[in-house]
Amino acid sequence: MRTVVRVTERVEETPSTVTLRFPFEPAAAPGQFVMAWFPGDDELPMSLSYTTGPSKGITVKAMGDTSRRVQAIRPGSPIGVRGPYGNRFDLTPRHILVVGGGSGAAVLAPAAEAARLGGSSVVVALGATRAPELLFRDRFERMGARVEVATDDGSVGVHGFVTLVADRLLENERFDAVWTCGPEVMMRKVVDAAASRDVPVYCSMERHMKCSLGMCDACALGPFHVCTDGPVFSSELLARVPDFGRFHRDPSGRRVPF
Ligand SMILES: Cc1cc2nc3c(=O)[nH]c(=O)nc-3n(C[C@H](O)[C@H](O)[C@H](O)COP(=O)(O)OP(=O)(O)OC[C@H]3O[C@@H](n4cnc5c(N)ncnc54)[C@H](O)[C@@H]3O)c2cc1C
Ligand code: FES
Repeated sequence: MRTVVRVTERVEETPSTVTLRFPFEPAAAPGQFVMAWFPGDDELPMSLSYTTGPSKGITVKAMGDTSRRVQAIRPGSPIGVRGPYGNRFDLTPRHILVVGGGSGAAVLAPAAEAARLGGSSVVVALGATRAPELLFRDRFERMGARVEVATDDGSVGVHGFVTLVADRLLENERFDAVWTCGPEVMMRKVVDAAASRDVPVYCSMERHMKCSLGMCDACALGPFHVCTDGPVFSSELLARVPDFGRFHRDPSGRRVPF
């Protein structure tokens, strides 16, 4: 059932990314998502970037038409929310490498916060196109995570993709698990790099979604539904998905290469 709530806070996190906070009582866990409806537009699946307490949040990157219009939403505006849906990150690993690319940090930040509260140590490899686009860098640092950054243009940190940083960290440290979210090609590289060191990876996956209830097949990922079997998938399960990092599906279900 969809609940209509009013946005209480709007934060410009980066030049292309906005967080909307809103009152939403249902309990949620890091990794879960909601179906967010913006008046005049369709619903979009959005990870919860704030999962605790009565004030939840989503962090939206300007991509296509709808997410660009979402950037203009102001406090006091109504939005529709249903959920939360999907599974969650397992918070039990004690030493975790978090690899975030672009807006992928939205779902990783609350998971890392929960892990830190539980006493785990967290190292973050954070990537973006350029320095101002690094999402939640301060938030990761405030929670006591060690943060290493990479930018495509070299404006800060390592010059190049965040996978360079992740690869070096995996080479030098023994992690119990890797959590990652970002472009699927990036996540595939992270999975491959961790596999050679025998470290399990948990990827927050995206597919087109309609029902979010496991009924319409829009979000098919090999033998799985992202909405009900995920969105968090282990590298062990993704080994059964040949399309992982290679093909996604358009709204009509057609396979499209990344
Ligand atoms: C589980 C999950 C979590 C996500 N979390 C985030 C997040 O935290 N932050 C973020 O910025 N993005 C997130 N996304 C991606 C987001 O849902 C959109 O795909 C993205 O914002 C592009 O939408 P758009 O309307 O701007 O794109 P366009 O290309 O303009 O899309 C046009 C229309 O297609 C439809 N559409 C587009 N993408 C989807 C989709 N994935 N499912 C259903 N319909 C769609 C909508 O009707 C939209 O109006 C997530 C996706 C999934 C599946
Ligand atoms: S969105 Fe309908 S089955 Fe997942």
